[in-house]
Amino acid sequence: MNAAVRLGDWQALGGAALAIRERVFVREQGVPVELEQDAEDQRCLHALAELAGQTVATGRLTTDGHIGRVAVLREARGRGIGGQILEALVAEARRRGLTEALLNAQLHALPFYERHGFVAYGPVFDDAGIPHRAMRRRLD
Ligand code: COA
Repeated sequence: MNAAVRLGDWQALGGAALAIRERVFVREQGVPVELEQDAEDQRCLHALAELAGQTVATGRLTTDGHIGRVAVLREARGRGIGGQILEALVAEARRRGLTEALLNAQLHALPFYERHGFVAYGPVFDDAGIPHRAMRRRLD
């Protein structure tokens, strides 16, 4: 069963997006709660995925083509929903005429992003205590 993906601004989707981030990044991964909301959120396009009436995933696209805060509730993983969120944000970046989509991937999630055409570059770096690598996908 495919999830339904919605796109919108922070005012419309921020409450539900934060609830997902808090469960995944804060409670599950131990990221400090104050890092889960920033000034960028007001300017981003946000995505939510709903399955059987429940919001189960989120992600965001910055104005300069960075995808981030991609999170799927644990019980909803492995069903392609993270991929749906990612592709919806990539499609929006392409619609805006951007030539590439960028993201910083947690190392464990590299294979997930590679499956969607992202290529890692540069060294491993730390963000909120979690090792990351930069990745990009050309859109033209
Ligand atoms: N490590 C390696 N591979 C992973 C992975 C992980 N942590 N998470 C997912 N994958 C792979 C799976 O092997 C699966 O491949 P398969 O279908 O061939 O078995 C595929 O990616 C799953 O794709 P999909 O179902 O679209 O992904 P998802 O809905 O499970 O979401 C994440 C993937 C990474 C977004 C999700 O696991 C998540 O929210 N994790 C916690 C938060 C996080 O780390 N976010 C990424 C921040 S950069």
